[in-house]
Amino acid sequence: MPSAPSPWWRYAVIYQVYPRSWADADGDGLGDLPGITSRLPHLVELGVDAVWISPFYPSPQRDAGYDVADYRDVDPRFGTLDDFDALIERAHALGLKVIVDLVPNHSSSDHPWFQEALAAAPGSPERARYIFRDGRGPGGDSPPNNWRSKFGGSAWTRITEADGSPGQWYLHLFDESQPDFDWSHAEVRSEFEDILRFWLDRGVDGFRIDVAHGMVKTEGFPDAPDDYDLAVDPTASQPMWDQPAVHDIFRSWRRLVDTYDGDRLLCAEAWVRPDEALARYVRPDECHHSFNFGYLMTPWRAADQRESITRSLEAVRSVGAVQTWVLSNHDVVRHATRLAVPQTTTSVIPGIGPDDPQPDAELGLRRARAATALMLALPGAAYLYQGEELGLPEATTLPPDVRQDPTFWRSDDGDVGRDGCRVPVPWEADRPAFGFNETGATWLPQPAVYGQLSVDRQRGVPDSTFELYRSLLALRRDRGLGRGELSWLGGFGTDVVAFAVVAGGTTTTVLANLGDTPLALPSQLDVLVTSGPARRDLLPDTTVWLDGDLSGTGGISSRA
Ligand code: GLC
Repeated sequence: MPSAPSPWWRYAVIYQVYPRSWADADGDGLGDLPGITSRLPHLVELGVDAVWISPFYPSPQRDAGYDVADYRDVDPRFGTLDDFDALIERAHALGLKVIVDLVPNHSSSDHPWFQEALAAAPGSPERARYIFRDGRGPGGDSPPNNWRSKFGGSAWTRITEADGSPGQWYLHLFDESQPDFDWSHAEVRSEFEDILRFWLDRGVDGFRIDVAHGMVKTEGFPDAPDDYDLAVDPTASQPMWDQPAVHDIFRSWRRLVDTYDGDRLLCAEAWVRPDEALARYVRPDECHHSFNFGYLMTPWRAADQRESITRSLEAVRSVGAVQTWVLSNHDVVRHATRLAVPQTTTSVIPGIGPDDPQPDAELGLRRARAATALMLALPGAAYLYQGEELGLPEATTLPPDVRQDPTFWRSDDGDVGRDGCRVPVPWEADRPAFGFNETGATWLPQPAVYGQLSVDRQRGVPDSTFELYRSLLALRRDRGLGRGELSWLGGFGTDVVAFAVVAGGTTTTVLANLGDTPLALPSQLDVLVTSGPARRDLLPDTTVWLDGDLSGTGGISSRA
């Protein structure tokens, strides 16, 4: 195996663990850090480079931990700081990097600073760390502007002052339990630099930065355009997203992480458009990675895929960064389900509930395997979400009474929320909670089909999704695909995504058939791996990696 490139993150595959749902050592139904530590060998077996762990900090869990009450500790439900130290030590011993999730746009309303702000007077230094404003209209009864929460409803909540009178309003781009910090405040900036140091000193290899594009708002808090669509089109024309001054924060953080050894990583969660806007987050003096959500939202159509990949690569090339590729995470419908619903750029966002048409699981899985095989051949870094290596579908029949995502409760347009992608993962089919713990308790119910998809039912089974991921990851590493150069191949018709990746003198030819007719494979190249049945023709919704170069062979023809 070639030695790891430096810096390690450039071509890394990073696996997201959602701590509530990966492994539960104490059996209370909610995953925890000791559970994660015990299952780390799975990541070695899979063949990834790093693990990113979603928030495990003390939190009232109103947004599943993305509402942090103390940035320097572990929630007792997830363990202790000692458990964290043990996790990182074990991960490093296994050769895995550890990324933690930083939530700087907002805190929990339980955070001591926010409690101090509530107790203090309008205009006080305590209020200045957050965004408190007087209301508009008679008695200040209307919110300061028309901004909406991303979870539904107004982005402003009015407080009652200490003397019992109706008071100021505070801004929360998400749930009302998540007040936004004022990032123009020096104390907020220095506090977060200190928090970065706290975790860097504990040995973390980097940070995923939550809502990176929302931390700075337009001065004066003007109304947003009436018709703005918060969910799918965050651009700088909306006064709460992607403001130029946000980049100053990442510059200062980059300077800070660069004082540490070991190539620590900053990865921005920035839902911005267009690709050029995304590229600004990965300029040489800012973050190293920014999630490529444009790619994640790209419909499963060959022309859209080609265009998205081309644009993404060009955009980061212009700033000398690497692109990242991602298909699933804890906020979107799992791609094994999403790819079976009508393909639009917005099929990512709303969850799927029991009253919606139920997607075709077989089609979804076939496409998901093909999409992953396409993604893992692309140059750059890739992010995987727990359970996708098992082909887990979204849980689409969760009843309302078990749902916990605040989106479900706040939504004004019937969005069922994100619980369906957050269900505990199955490890062993015949154990309680499919091996998630010893007691059988789970904070969200697992669909019965998760049993058949558990790790122990797939390990060593040649056609299983788990073994497909292992093969893809091993070949990706051995053939240096992450650091390769991509060139498009013509002659395959409009429904085939066809490209070659050249790395270190090795060429890998990748063909993804997104049409509905099989395609004859060229006999002169050996199949390295295929997402579908191993045959001499490429079935619809199937991707194949071939050993070598097709140029000059005249291409292949579509077989009716
Ligand atoms: C990010 C997180 C999401 C969370 C939101 C508010 O988008 O990924 O889960 O709800 O930020 O913190």
